[in-house]
Amino acid sequence: MFSDRTNWNTRPTTLATLLHEKQQRGEDIIDLTESNPTRCGFQYNTQGMLDALATRRSLLYEPNPKGLLLARTAIADWYFQQGVTVSVEHFFLTASTSEGYSFLFRLLCNAGDSIFIPKPSYPLLDYLCQLNDVVPQYYSLMYDDEWHIDFERLEKSITKETRAIILVHPNNPTGSFIKHHERSHIEELARQRNLPLIVDEVFGSFGFEQDKRRASSFASDETVLTFTLNGLSKLAGLPQMKLAWIAVSGPEAEREEALKRLEIIADTYLSVTTPVQQALPLLLKDSSFLTQQILERVRGNYQWLVSTLRSGSTMSLLHCEGGWNAILQLPNTRTDEEWALKFLRERNILVHPGHLFDLQNSVCIVMSLLVKREMLESGIEAMKGIVEV
Ligand SMILES: Cc1ncc(COP(=O)(O)O)c(C=O)c1O
Repeated sequence: MFSDRTNWNTRPTTLATLLHEKQQRGEDIIDLTESNPTRCGFQYNTQGMLDALATRRSLLYEPNPKGLLLARTAIADWYFQQGVTVSVEHFFLTASTSEGYSFLFRLLCNAGDSIFIPKPSYPLLDYLCQLNDVVPQYYSLMYDDEWHIDFERLEKSITKETRAIILVHPNNPTGSFIKHHERSHIEELARQRNLPLIVDEVFGSFGFEQDKRRASSFASDETVLTFTLNGLSKLAGLPQMKLAWIAVSGPEAEREEALKRLEIIADTYLSVTTPVQQALPLLLKDSSFLTQQILERVRGNYQWLVSTLRSGSTMSLLHCEGGWNAILQLPNTRTDEEWALKFLRERNILVHPGHLFDLQNSVCIVMSLLVKREMLESGIEAMKGIVEV
């Protein structure tokens, strides 16, 4: 009765079952996987947002496949403030970055074609490929105190079915940004092999330190056909608003053809609601207030981890340049799953086993940096108590 592409193993994992049992018993969990900014104690301009959403203009339906002009103008202004110029005609609003990915997969791939995704990276990419009949191909990020793209393997693995390369800038959970030399390399490769780039910049505003080697936004890139994704869920800490966008750039002929085709895809769904589009100028104006609070939290937590786990600790922190997650390496006396289960069973601490993000070369767990410091401190102290016996 059902499609092969939805033939997933839907049985809860042992970790999920244990968590559920503990929650049923009303036990307090130190949730170090929390990635929902609306639950992390940040200050929002609540009344301003409610007023902006409640405008009478929200009651008018004026469908536009690209999104309302006032919303696209607000996005273009947001880029302009960061020194990036994008025409309002080159944006498409979507309900989420995930929807943006789906539009692009439908634009670029026939069933069975391939798209390169980084490994490790966030698990949703595999599902998005599967749901759009795209076969994921992987390129590795290698760690030697910093993450690098393994270009050799990437170049060798390109086939005639390959349709695009995804860059996550910075990547989740490695927190690694694309560097200038990597950008030049990948653009040259994309140009030679006629492959568009899909660049996910949802964590782009969350770099911990300035770094001259770091590539800037790809949103105005003209070298190759490029689709840059971003949205409110991370940069304004508003995942519930369901508004993201695709910025299309590149050589004119390819860009114009992509815009025409995307217009039909977007017109088929028209999925972004009018109230959130009407509110977007205010939401983006306020976004720096949120970005700043979140950045201070994640950077502060990361710096605290660096100092706490510095020397002699059996848990070591992998170097991270930005984003909302940190990776901890643990002794290989157990698997990542076994460590995560032990932390939950014995100390009520919830972390992600690294294999969920395809962290495979060593035993790693992934933790959110978004949580309040007190929570992180008690989680780390308790984990140390278990790991260092
Ligand atoms: C790298 C990356 N891109 C996109 C998303 C999802 O963004 P959205 O809420 O806009 O779909 C996530 C979610 O964590 C992510 O990690």
